[in-house]
Amino acid sequence: MREKSESVLVTRVYKMSKFKNIKLNFLSGVPVKDIDFKDILTNLDWEDQETLIRATILHERNVKYPLRNDYQKIFIKHIIQQLESNEVSDIHDKFYEILAEKISECDSEFSYKHFNVVENEFISIKESNSFIRDGTTGLKLWPAAVTLSNYIFNNPDIFNDKSILEIGSGCSGLVGLALLKSSRCKQVFLSDCHDTVVNKLIENINLNLEGYNIENLESSLLIRQHSYVNNSCEMGILNLAWEDIIENQKELMRKCKINMILAADIVYDSSIFKALVSCLKVLFNLYCDSSLQFVLSQTIRNQETFNEFCKLLKVNSFDVTEISIDNLERKIPFANEPLNDVKMYRICQNK
Ligand SMILES: C[S@@+](CC[C@H](N)C(=O)[O-])C[C@H]1O[C@@H](n2cnc3c(N)ncnc32)[C@H](O)[C@@H]1O
Repeated sequence: MREKSESVLVTRVYKMSKFKNIKLNFLSGVPVKDIDFKDILTNLDWEDQETLIRATILHERNVKYPLRNDYQKIFIKHIIQQLESNEVSDIHDKFYEILAEKISECDSEFSYKHFNVVENEFISIKESNSFIRDGTTGLKLWPAAVTLSNYIFNNPDIFNDKSILEIGSGCSGLVGLALLKSSRCKQVFLSDCHDTVVNKLIENINLNLEGYNIENLESSLLIRQHSYVNNSCEMGILNLAWEDIIENQKELMRKCKINMILAADIVYDSSIFKALVSCLKVLFNLYCDSSLQFVLSQTIRNQETFNEFCKLLKVNSFDVTEISIDNLERKIPFANEPLNDVKMYRICQNK
């Protein structure tokens, strides 16, 4: 009798940990084919199915901030198919009901992903369902930003006491949120040049920083600036175009006293390399006394294009060193693309 109840308990604990894994994969939008369901769908009673539904499709985050409709349909269909092919006798009505609801809804232009970075704490990101929208790639979260965020979670001490500027942040704000949630950095400034991108960036930061004081710092130099302050760190959002840095932003940048620049996936179009390198030169000259360094996370789509960028850096007295990321623990899973094309670099000015 006792042995039997122990084995029921062991099975339940096993199932709970499997459900947790499925939940975290689902909420962060990992492709259904890559979710490790193991043998969990071979033997699910009604109650287990209810638990699985509540942990995933009816999870409060997904109800309030839904993942892509298409993704949810594939997820539910996969579970129903598996349960059917495993001849589970009673398949929960809710799977069919929710699937019918999802089929009748259209996919919206934006959807969410939720990353469980600290126990019971999620970073939720709203992003476009298309790779390019409104003429920009910035309304999507890209793998290089995920890698950079994982690097931050793995090495928080590197960022302690630093004033950090991210350039070409895009809409997600993930890198800034990773900094705020893991390190003891002093200031984080996120920036982009595209109006819609900056608006969506503000939206994502607001979504994730409930409880922070939000101040609008007045500045004649900025088109837009928002500032979030907690006890130890201030976060600001700037509209910063690399081409305009000399005219519009120099004064502000001088005040910010940056000692680290971060960027993810900004080296893809050779027509903007000149502006980007000029911007870096301005920043390095402004902070020449602060041992400024630039950490770049980049998907290498075309080695020649990237080499061209490195060549331009060299000509302008920058050194480029690759950072090893082979052993990065993945705190933030990434869904849509393989991460193995992402590389990280440390770029410094040789004096
Ligand atoms: C591929 S997206 C990467 C976004 C984000 N860093 C990520 O990895 O998810 C490139 C970003 O660079 C920004 N960008 C492109 N040209 C720029 C420029 N001249 N000045 C400032 N930002 C620029 C775009 O608006 C876009 O948000």
